[in-house]
Amino acid sequence: MSELEGHKAPRRRAGDTAVSEQAARAAQEARKAQVARVARVNGPLVEVTGLAGVAMYDIVELGARRLPGEAVAIRGDVTTIQAYEYTGGLAPGHPARGLGEPLSALLGPHLLGGVFDGLLRPLAGAPAWLEPGQSQAAASREFDFTPTVTDGVTVGGGACLGTVATVGGIGYRVLVPPGLGGEVARVRPAGPVPGDATIATVAGAPVPLTSAWPVRRPRPYRERKDADAPLITGQRVIDALFPVTRGGTSAVPGGFGTGKTVLLQQVTKWCDADVIVYVGCGERGNELADMLGELAELSDPRTGGRLAERTVVIANTSNMPMMAREASIYSAATVAEHFRDMGLDAVVIADSTSRWAEALREFASRSGELPAEEGYPASLSSALAAFYERAGRVVTSEGREGSVTIIGAISPAGGDMTEPVTTYTQRFVRCLWSLDRDLAYARHYPAVSWSGSFSRDDAVIAAWYAAQGDPGWAGRRSRLAALLAEADRLSSLAELMGAGALPTAERVTILAGRLIREGVLQQSALSVTDASCDSARAAALAGAVLATAERCQELARGGIPAATIEDQDFSPILRAREEAGTPDAVASRERMMLASLDELGRAGAPDGAEAAADGAAGAPEGIAAQHHQEGAAA
Ligand SMILES: Nc1ncnc2c1ncn2[C@@H]1O[C@H](COP(=O)(O)OP(=O)(O)OP(=O)(O)O)[C@@H](O)[C@H]1O
Ligand SMILES: [Mg+2]
Repeated sequence: MSELEGHKAPRRRAGDTAVSEQAARAAQEARKAQVARVARVNGPLVEVTGLAGVAMYDIVELGARRLPGEAVAIRGDVTTIQAYEYTGGLAPGHPARGLGEPLSALLGPHLLGGVFDGLLRPLAGAPAWLEPGQSQAAASREFDFTPTVTDGVTVGGGACLGTVATVGGIGYRVLVPPGLGGEVARVRPAGPVPGDATIATVAGAPVPLTSAWPVRRPRPYRERKDADAPLITGQRVIDALFPVTRGGTSAVPGGFGTGKTVLLQQVTKWCDADVIVYVGCGERGNELADMLGELAELSDPRTGGRLAERTVVIANTSNMPMMAREASIYSAATVAEHFRDMGLDAVVIADSTSRWAEALREFASRSGELPAEEGYPASLSSALAAFYERAGRVVTSEGREGSVTIIGAISPAGGDMTEPVTTYTQRFVRCLWSLDRDLAYARHYPAVSWSGSFSRDDAVIAAWYAAQGDPGWAGRRSRLAALLAEADRLSSLAELMGAGALPTAERVTILAGRLIREGVLQQSALSVTDASCDSARAAALAGAVLATAERCQELARGGIPAATIEDQDFSPILRAREEAGTPDAVASRERMMLASLDELGRAGAPDGAEAAADGAAGAPEGIAAQHHQEGAAA
């Protein structure tokens, strides 16, 4: 009976005194009974007393249902637990048990092609409503193992003991756990092995096929390296203007419905990484279910198998317990590092980090922590840094090169780009793909803003393209960017003064901006030809549009009136992204387009046009320039 007294104590608004009295009483009782007890439950925040020897971030199981939680504060005998599951039914007095180990993810070949919850427990069955399954599921599968060492050899941490044949065709390597080293014995012969098999012993210690690793601790590597190559995403606006490196980081902020989920799912499907870890974090469950369906159908151009087979999906959708979101992104980083350690390129895609930050905020507010900006805990910035820091290109303990690239969506409330998650994230990422509401409203997809986005790795990537035989990449990029910026500036002038007041050359620049937007940057996720675009075709499309723009400028210089140029049929170039599936097909459209412009030049050039054009350009240019200066001054 006495155990319930704490529960009956009158409620007070000043949480802390009530808590400490309540907790102290429960602590006394727990000590009497020599068992840890739940003292207080407040949503995902649970206070437990009597947990002898508990350490920060240890896992604690709560109640008869053994709900998992993590110790996030220890004050004397009272331990605060962040519960990862719904705490309905959990009451003061219920038992609690410390496991004496931190939250860990089970790493093994079962991850590939799987769908898991935020704690990396397999989610069984139909994707429509995801339910936690049993963690034993990993062990029940069989894998085809081939040893690469023999008994008696000496190995160090990170050395390869054997390989597992995976459906996805990636080279899955079974490595000696970090910190272990010595003589190998009892190597398992080639053949099928269960997921929980021990595949050898090293210095007498068993090395299992599937092993646990604490999710908050980055896996070790030999050396960190600077990024040197792009991650080709298949999305032109990214690959041509704001490229991300293998081992780099990128954030995708965008208001409601601007296309974050579609863009990230496109990258998931088409990027040229070996393994993709997709975290659906607090977003709609049905979107994730749709994506799982699409992944299962898509064939993988690299392996000939299905794309799903080299994807790991972590689902913590909005219909699942809030707090597991907090762990999910660390679980994802751990899984990606696991594959990186095999010398592979892994990508973590998180949609959305704002929903993850919401979990931090909810917990902080319940724990009575003094809120910093907009109710987020003061640790928000360091938590974001800890996540993005796990990206990188490294030399693994085995001496191979591998990488983890991290791409996270941000959904700022009301599209407010000054809110804390967006501002902090911008500090830690190498690339920003900022989605623009006006572009999305105009159905310009992907709505990546060319004025609000950046890539800090363009120089490295330009060098890589040059080494790969495309020295023109950097030049194309800067011309595209310059024309887009200039076209934007002139368009706003044209809005003020009317397009007719601008000289021909400036009207042609506005036209060039339109050709770039419609012929290069737009890319429909639903298109059969164009959902993904390889580097060669992207180069051909950009080259064709730039050549067309250049020829139009020549016509303008030759005295062809702006209206005549604007009225040209540019559809061979504009429709190339949808209709021309190869670089050659794009090039032949470019020839067609240029030929028709040459025709226009021959037919339309008036006598003495050059002088006239120059004269015409003179006055309005003065006005335009003056106007621009006034605008800038204002
Ligand atoms: N690349 C694209 N190609 C075609 N359509 C697109 C593309 N990107 C976005 N869309 C359209 O925009 C809609 C909204 O996109 P999406 O769901 O990705 O937005 P979001 O930013 O994730 O929204 P929310 O803030 O609600 O999560 C899609 O349903 C689709 O119709
Ligand atoms: Mg979305």
